[in-house]
Amino acid sequence: MVGGVVALGKDGPAEAVGRGIEPYGVHQPGIAAASPRHAELVAFNLRHGVDKAALGRLMRLWTGDIVALANGRAAPGDTAPELVIGNVALTTTVGFGPRVFELTGEKPPGLDDLPVMKRDRLAPAWSGGDLLIMVGADDPVSVVHAVRRLVADAKPFATPTWRQTGFWNGTGSDGQPVTGRNLFGQVDGTGNPAVGTPEFDATVWSSDGPDWFRGGTTLVVRRIRLNLDTWDELTRSEQERAIGRKLSTGAPLTGAAEHDELDLEARDADGRPVIAENAHARLSHHSENDGRRIFRKGLNYVQDTGPARESGLIFLSHQADVAAQFLPLLARLDAADALNEWTTSIGSAVFALPPGFQPGTWLAQNLLA
Ligand code: HEM
Repeated sequence: MVGGVVALGKDGPAEAVGRGIEPYGVHQPGIAAASPRHAELVAFNLRHGVDKAALGRLMRLWTGDIVALANGRAAPGDTAPELVIGNVALTTTVGFGPRVFELTGEKPPGLDDLPVMKRDRLAPAWSGGDLLIMVGADDPVSVVHAVRRLVADAKPFATPTWRQTGFWNGTGSDGQPVTGRNLFGQVDGTGNPAVGTPEFDATVWSSDGPDWFRGGTTLVVRRIRLNLDTWDELTRSEQERAIGRKLSTGAPLTGAAEHDELDLEARDADGRPVIAENAHARLSHHSENDGRRIFRKGLNYVQDTGPARESGLIFLSHQADVAAQFLPLLARLDAADALNEWTTSIGSAVFALPPGFQPGTWLAQNLLA
């Protein structure tokens, strides 16, 4: 099965019986999978002297780890093998930051660090990186354990530069998949192209980059702090106006159901647009952006320091080309988005995610062999 989800239980909803996700495929399987319940991202910088051949050795090691962990087996060298359990939908996704291509050549088009936006307050501690791993699973112990193994195997090659931990709930109370919610309470992910459609494929998978990157994609990671204190001072209708959608269902203010199309022309009795000119859902809509689309996935985060809590969104965006698809959207939102009053980007990183691998091959083999 290519990059698919395999329900390993008998009947009934996959969530109830546990499930595994095959590590093999044309694409890395974590990318099109729904946002994981628990996830950790680790960015690394390459150690001095690591060259293309050494990076290839690390990718062979990581490929072995990824296959073992996805199949619920301990990876070679595991010092706590009892922590490995199967059927937790564990995926590991690997990416390369722009600097890697100074070693290897064949850089995917448009893969550069994003320019700093006027409203950004980026901390170096949450930004950049040469390598990325993102591990997701239904179970937080499995995530932490998988990350520990992958970081240990990377030690001779690369050192962690940031780590981010997040969570998402994409399952309704009846056990069926739903669009999850961010910590503002908004339904977040509705406008995404649907997985498996031609629109999704054209948005996400690279087709005109270097040969090795065909079937790969890029990932933008933005750590965005949410000011819940001032957000909570708004009325519900003020909150809904900022996004242009209803909090209850995620439906557009011009519609009734979550997936109703936005009516950007609709006016109220006073002649004002029902979906405000600066509403996030209008400004980010593909019809207002020359058809540009991205595939967004979110992870909520909280970070506690003593009694103080910071809340936010680890905003993840996949697209074939960062410069062509993501950057113009980001610039537009930075200039005018109503949500800006309650959000601050504090971290930013971009990665190329190589295509998937098959039994007998390894990650990014066509770039590094
Ligand atoms: C913390 C910051 C953000 C929050 C809370 C947020 C929230 C939302 C919500 C609730 C929606 C409407 C439902 C949906 O379609 O998913 C939405 C749509 C969207 N957002 Fe954001 N967003 C944030 C940042 C961004 C950024 C940085 C970008 C890109 C640069 C972006 C791009 C989009 C796009 C493309 C859509 C879909 C528009 C369509 O319907 O075609 N968002 N966002």
